[in-house]
Amino acid sequence: MCEGSGKTDGRSSAPGHDCRVPKDPAPAFDNGVAVLGLGYVGLPTAIGFAEAGVPTIGVDICPERLSAISRGAVDMAPYDRKRLAVALDDGTLQLSAEAEQLTSADAVVICVPTPITATRAPDWAPLQTVCSTVVAKAREGQTLVLTSTTAVGATRYLLVEPLVRRGFSVGRDIWCVFSPERINPGSCEDRQLVPRVVGGHSRMCGERGRALVSMLTDDVHVVSSLEAAELTKLLENTFRAVNIALVNEFADAARGWDIDIREVTLAAGTKPYGFMPFRPGPGAGGHCIPCDPHWFLDGLDEPATDAPVTHAAMRSLAQRPLQVVTRAAELLGDPHRAGSSIAIVGVAYKPGVADVRESPAIEIMRALMDAGAVVSYVDDWVPSLDIDGRRLFSDPRLLASADLVIVHTLHPDFDLARLAGCRSVLDATFELTDVPCAVTL
Ligand SMILES: NC(=O)c1ccc[n+]([C@@H]2O[C@H](COP(=O)([O-])OP(=O)(O)OC[C@H]3O[C@@H](n4cnc5c(N)ncnc54)[C@H](O)[C@@H]3O)[C@@H](O)[C@H]2O)c1
Repeated sequence: MCEGSGKTDGRSSAPGHDCRVPKDPAPAFDNGVAVLGLGYVGLPTAIGFAEAGVPTIGVDICPERLSAISRGAVDMAPYDRKRLAVALDDGTLQLSAEAEQLTSADAVVICVPTPITATRAPDWAPLQTVCSTVVAKAREGQTLVLTSTTAVGATRYLLVEPLVRRGFSVGRDIWCVFSPERINPGSCEDRQLVPRVVGGHSRMCGERGRALVSMLTDDVHVVSSLEAAELTKLLENTFRAVNIALVNEFADAARGWDIDIREVTLAAGTKPYGFMPFRPGPGAGGHCIPCDPHWFLDGLDEPATDAPVTHAAMRSLAQRPLQVVTRAAELLGDPHRAGSSIAIVGVAYKPGVADVRESPAIEIMRALMDAGAVVSYVDDWVPSLDIDGRRLFSDPRLLASADLVIVHTLHPDFDLARLAGCRSVLDATFELTDVPCAVTL
């Protein structure tokens, strides 16, 4: 169906193939951009729009988060905290807990979480809630952009179809876009240089998306549909999950043959084409790698048989933390570990962030505690940690006395001298080349 046909059934339209595209003046976003969800993704996104000179309203349902942002007490690089302070001080970025503000904005950008449940099924609740609010507040002329990683078809199902039911003609009087986020928290890369993918419900939706996202990056790649953009993001992160599982498998095999996997990945990395080095580790954490492939699998009729590679990789990654626990038991020479003192170095899911979501460290610590070990941790980025209601505090003093130290995450400012004098060190990062007492996972 063409946008110009006057029909409004978004489901039956053919995205990316407008046969009569109405003339569209270069879209302006003078009435501002509303960013919904001010987490690891949404906050830098809002700062980016504000820096581009667009009045930006950042909306978050969590009052504590809003308060932390207004104080600058957020998990961001110091440079980004300065940018935040400037945007708040000059008033280009305003904060709100009220979705009322949405209607006045020319563009609404959705950045809410898309986690998985305890049974590793997609948790649709935050996305469904926010999309129904956006649809309820939508007005003609808005560009609605979903950036949260999600299942194929979600933008159509949660935005396009409900808008059509409200009487909008999507692609004529309102525009729907999916543009996945590629932020790499903890890294200093210039986001302006990281290309972004955009997919629209129609070609004109894609062009609206391009105009908006161009404020955040110099390089926008427009694909033909919402679904192509959704699947692009799922491919990017499933690719990473599969390769991490693969290199873990090779690391286990290498240890059996007494080969250093670091030497092997370094050597393989000299191949100038067709190989990309991945580092083995204690598992995969954060809001992306352990979650996103499940949004892909969930959309398939038979996940295990339709996508056996992804399925096997995710199962392998899920089991990885318990492999660390088994290896710790081997090193302690006590299969039950009862009473052993074990200190974890670094509980964040990766270096340079305070984020512990889905961190393998949590599962490792839980399993060790359940087995009777006395568990402590050191992480200058994570002062305290809650594991099933048990509150732990980062305590560097316990390193020296621990029966075993498990190095889980090495933050950039961690001084390796702190490991000197430790009795036994299990290196789950495969990075401790210069610590004589360390053995790899
Ligand atoms: N964190 C990353 O590295 C990263 C990278 C690329 C993509 N993503 C994707 O981006 C999305 C957001 O991830 P994140 O890490 O920023 O999540 P987050 O948990 O850090 O932030 C989400 C924010 O949304 C707020 N929120 C939830 N429901 C809301 C609602 N109805 N209205 C307004 N605010 C609401 C929460 O309070 C929270 O502050 C996810 O889909 C994730 O997969 C994340």
